[in-house]
Amino acid sequence: MFAGEARQLRAALAEVAGGRAFLLHAGDCAESFHDFTAISIREKLKILLQMAAVLTYGALLPIVKVGRIAGQFAKPRSSATERVDGNELPSFFGHMVNDDAPTAAARTFDPERMARGYHQSAATLNLLRAFTKGGFADLTQVHMWNQEFVASSPQGRRYDVIAAEIERALRFMAACGIDLTEQRQLHEVDVWTSHEGLLLDYEEGLTRRDSLTGDWYDCSAHLLWIGDRTRQPDGAHVAFFAGVHNPIAVKLGPTATPDETVELCERLNPHRIPGRLSFIERMGAGRVGELLPPLLRAVREAEHPVAWVCDPMHANGFKTKNGIKTRRFDAIMAEVEEFSAACWDEGTWPGGVHLEFTGENVTECLGGSEEVGEEQLTTRYETLCDPRLNARQSLDLAFRVGQMMRQRDVPFSSSVTSRV
Ligand code: PEP
Ligand code: CO
Repeated sequence: MFAGEARQLRAALAEVAGGRAFLLHAGDCAESFHDFTAISIREKLKILLQMAAVLTYGALLPIVKVGRIAGQFAKPRSSATERVDGNELPSFFGHMVNDDAPTAAARTFDPERMARGYHQSAATLNLLRAFTKGGFADLTQVHMWNQEFVASSPQGRRYDVIAAEIERALRFMAACGIDLTEQRQLHEVDVWTSHEGLLLDYEEGLTRRDSLTGDWYDCSAHLLWIGDRTRQPDGAHVAFFAGVHNPIAVKLGPTATPDETVELCERLNPHRIPGRLSFIERMGAGRVGELLPPLLRAVREAEHPVAWVCDPMHANGFKTKNGIKTRRFDAIMAEVEEFSAACWDEGTWPGGVHLEFTGENVTECLGGSEEVGEEQLTTRYETLCDPRLNARQSLDLAFRVGQMMRQRDVPFSSSVTSRV
């Protein structure tokens, strides 16, 4: 990607930090070298556009759309090895490091995989640009983003109602004499790319000096985030990303302290540039209400502009009695609600959600309006790493988040934002 694009995303995220926009940050837990087709990219984009339409309609705010896509190939693991059928094997660290098959040969680390990851990312981004700028994302296509298996569900029908209202609004504007063909925003969208900046060898290899400003940018993605396991303020990842000008996000798990959080602000955003730094909390349903407010307060008192985002996925996982990794839709929704309540109580804008989803009809997370039950988990369990929301569950979540925000009836320039 280009440095100028990273600056555009930074400006969009400054709107999020300022309470004038909402971030939808979503995609695969881990992209795959095996499942790489134009169709699967298109399906992911469809659900992202659908969710964004629902959220825009619900919140009446601009939705900044960022994919975990075109580079999300490296996975941090809690354990370096795992036991499979009695054998101790290196864990799977993402396709940019090793293969997921449970054999010693497949799990061997191979640096050539970084080059392959780069080429797949470049091809993915190329396709995303074509889809988002070439007519597919045109708002007049709003009905088309509803896939068949989604359209037949209650969420799909609810989506069709909104899509019809959007079309009516467009016809209303046209009838008022507004030339819709002239409005770029109706025909194209910006979908930005992001991944966890875990492999510093890869990130360093793609870091360039921008010819316009002379500043350094990591051109592997528009936004890079630092994971919960590598966010030490004096660690290598923070040192590296302090040196590039991309928008940066940091995941904050339950062990994050107020002092550490402010130190991350000082190191990663010493000039207090709005949009440069986002924090993605992932503390867990039932815990975020207690753990997050001290961090919100510390950052506010230090007068750092930060976009606060909720990842309701990574602290709500568990294994079923059959040993399948899953997450409950209700816990995911509960964390988003508890996060928003905590933010509102502290006078901070709940700026967005960070999700793992797929456009396919998988059965990896439990629950949702159409109840995926434990016995169904094995029907279509395809993730390489963490369980993802399927397209219906994602749309369901978008409706609920949109409704939650509408209940607050957020004014355009919310008074809470003046405190940031
Ligand atoms: C992830 O986003 O896939 C991830 C591993 O997250 P975290 O660093 O929050 O555990
Ligand atoms: Co994950």
